[in-house]
Amino acid sequence: MILKVARLGHPVVRTPAQPVAVEQIRTHDFQKLLDDMVETMHEYNGVGLAAPQVHLGLQLAVLEVESNPRYPDAPSVPLTYLINPVVTVLDETKVEEWEGCLSIPEMRGVVPRHKKILVTALGRNGERLEIQAEDFHARVIQHETDHLKGEVYLDRMDGMRTLSHLAEWQRFVMNQRR
Ligand code: NI
Repeated sequence: MILKVARLGHPVVRTPAQPVAVEQIRTHDFQKLLDDMVETMHEYNGVGLAAPQVHLGLQLAVLEVESNPRYPDAPSVPLTYLINPVVTVLDETKVEEWEGCLSIPEMRGVVPRHKKILVTALGRNGERLEIQAEDFHARVIQHETDHLKGEVYLDRMDGMRTLSHLAEWQRFVMNQRR
């Protein structure tokens, strides 16, 4: 089932999410929610989706990068479920790249992110995950885990000068990269 996406301005996007109860993970309803989040992410060509973006204040996010029309140059990332994730920065170096967000439709902005991180979390079946990620993979994880703190990419930008409407970004940024 495709879920309705909350946009910036809905209080749920700005509210820190609560931890998922571990015993809840293997329930039918929770597993269905995971499937619905993946389906919703695919429907809107997102590379990640956090529970607050579908009106649920839970520390849960999904991410996956295949070949994605929204991010044509991005390397692939396997489908990953992050439940109660904790991020540790492994390389403080900041890397700047464009980001968008399904909760801030039709916009793009340049966001500095840590180059390398470690995320520990529970996976789809409650198993412990430890994932080291760099560059775009690390960026997606930082973007999604920010959502669980009620933060969005706009908060991470060094000012708003690069903030661009998607159609203009495609004309003036994306076309010049080719
Ligand atoms: Ni987002």
